[in-house]
Amino acid sequence: MDRFITLKIIDVLMKRLNIDLGERSYDILIGRNILPQVGEFISKRFEPSRSIIITHPSVRNLFGEKLEPGLVNAGYSPGIIEIPEGEISKSLQQAELVYDRMLEMNCDRKSTLIALGGGVVGDLTGFIAATYQRGIPFIQIPTTLLSQVDSSVGGKTAVNHPRGKNMIGAFHQPKLVVVDLDTLQTLPKNEFKAGLAEVIKYGIIADEKLFTFLENNTKEILSLNRDCLQYIIETSCAIKAKVVEKDERENRHRMILNFGHTFGHSIETLTNYTEYLHGEALAIGMIQAAWLSVETGECSEDVPIRITNLLKKFNLPVHSPNLKSEDVISSMYHDKKTTHNKLRFILVKNIGSVEIVDDVPELAVKAALNKNH
Ligand code: GLY
Repeated sequence: MDRFITLKIIDVLMKRLNIDLGERSYDILIGRNILPQVGEFISKRFEPSRSIIITHPSVRNLFGEKLEPGLVNAGYSPGIIEIPEGEISKSLQQAELVYDRMLEMNCDRKSTLIALGGGVVGDLTGFIAATYQRGIPFIQIPTTLLSQVDSSVGGKTAVNHPRGKNMIGAFHQPKLVVVDLDTLQTLPKNEFKAGLAEVIKYGIIADEKLFTFLENNTKEILSLNRDCLQYIIETSCAIKAKVVEKDERENRHRMILNFGHTFGHSIETLTNYTEYLHGEALAIGMIQAAWLSVETGECSEDVPIRITNLLKKFNLPVHSPNLKSEDVISSMYHDKKTTHNKLRFILVKNIGSVEIVDDVPELAVKAALNKNH
């Protein structure tokens, strides 16, 4: 938190956090009603030849009027490429359609893509920016809680392959991330709550104070109190920035961001991605990972119980769907995060502290799954 610099722009308070990655360093700007200033933020940082906004039609309807005039005033009259809503757009086919449009628009290597939307728009835009003419700049303007605290920061970009999510991708850092808290006011409630699961994850892996804040301010957060939102988003981004600075390409330490994800991905896969939002499956996955931590002697039962109680307060799912433990374990071996056929998990020691454990026995995983029915 001390890493933030407070800036005042036209009577609006904004926080700036720099993520230090050498020549790939960039700022994360967090504030209210800051979309109109994006053109100005860009011009202070680099010189694009032009800008192209990639977004969904509904997102453009909500936020285009705030964003586009400022870009025009700064001299970057934006081209607009609209893509269909939903995970279906995270595909090589959709990427190709966007490359076609960019070539028609004569985009060059200094053209800058602006991802305006949630995780799908951000991941696809980042992937296109990583590959168009061997890499061009892009900026992230995440408009969902999940993308504000997770996918817009850290440079993971990808599209899906029919045989697995995020299978085709690249590390490509954005030049800037702009989080306008006002975008959350129109976010559907279930998506907001699913995003909170990632915020809770940051509390578990790195910050007991954040976890306690979430326990004590549930009502205010659910009613979108702006000071609470500012605090939880800033804190989450600061934790993610620190982890990414230490291990940008996920050689090991960055894996702690995957706490609960191995269980969560199994639930998503075995329910064909139709029953749970990612954050909802993650909520159940974090409880299962915490029970696994009890099984392996990392922590006491208080930890999964405390996590379950917090998730319940936010009305997130806490019980596993009816899945066979053999199927869950088998799908874990197919997870992109599994290597050398060993089950590796992020286990919790205390709220605020985790460790990466390789080669966890299947029996312990089965026992943990049984505790969560
Ligand atoms: N979403 C996990 C990561 O960025 O590493």
